[in-house]
Amino acid sequence: MKITTHICKTLDLGVSGNLFGGQLMYWLDEAASVYAIWATGEKRVVTRRISEAFFNKPIHAGELLVFNCVEPRKGKTSFSFKVLVVVGSEIRFQAECTFVAVDEEGKKKLIDWSKAPICQAEGVSSPGEETSAVPEK
Ligand SMILES: CC(C)(COP(=O)(O)OP(=O)(O)OC[C@H]1O[C@@H](n2cnc3c(N)ncnc32)[C@H](O)[C@@H]1OP(=O)(O)O)[C@@H](O)C(=O)NCCC(=O)NCCS
Repeated sequence: MKITTHICKTLDLGVSGNLFGGQLMYWLDEAASVYAIWATGEKRVVTRRISEAFFNKPIHAGELLVFNCVEPRKGKTSFSFKVLVVVGSEIRFQAECTFVAVDEEGKKKLIDWSKAPICQAEGVSSPGEETSAVPEK
């Protein structure tokens, strides 16, 4: 599912002249949070894991970055998925994310998957089930 798009501006570049990695991680966490909140229907989620993060190719000023979330996997208190950052038809960056639903005190809570929007809108798999990694356009 496409979540958001950002344009890489000159102010977003690092000393190498490419997009600064920290800026990409900021956009990633924000886009992933939006997806996790929408998909689970939970008011509060926190980032538990960002792993397997790969910068595949440099990103340059003027390029449009599309953030796609794919391969959703439901847990008891957690929700995991992959984020693909696509420029044109190229996956320039990818990462694995896990978010955990929390209550007002910040303690983990069970997700009610029967009411989760993602279960009504599209398939969501349990860990181990196969899903497509192809980003939507
Ligand atoms: C998120 C938090 C409440 C979890 O509490 P906890 O009691 O430690 O619970 P755990 O992390 O052991 O388990 C919670 C879920 O995360 C999953 N999890 C934990 N580590 C994981 C990992 N490395 N990869 C994938 N899933 C993981 C567990 O399997 C569990 O999922 P399930 O209930 O669906 O089976 C707590 O770790 C926390 O507050 N962390 C800080 C969050 C934060 O500040 N994030 C940045 C700002 S949003």
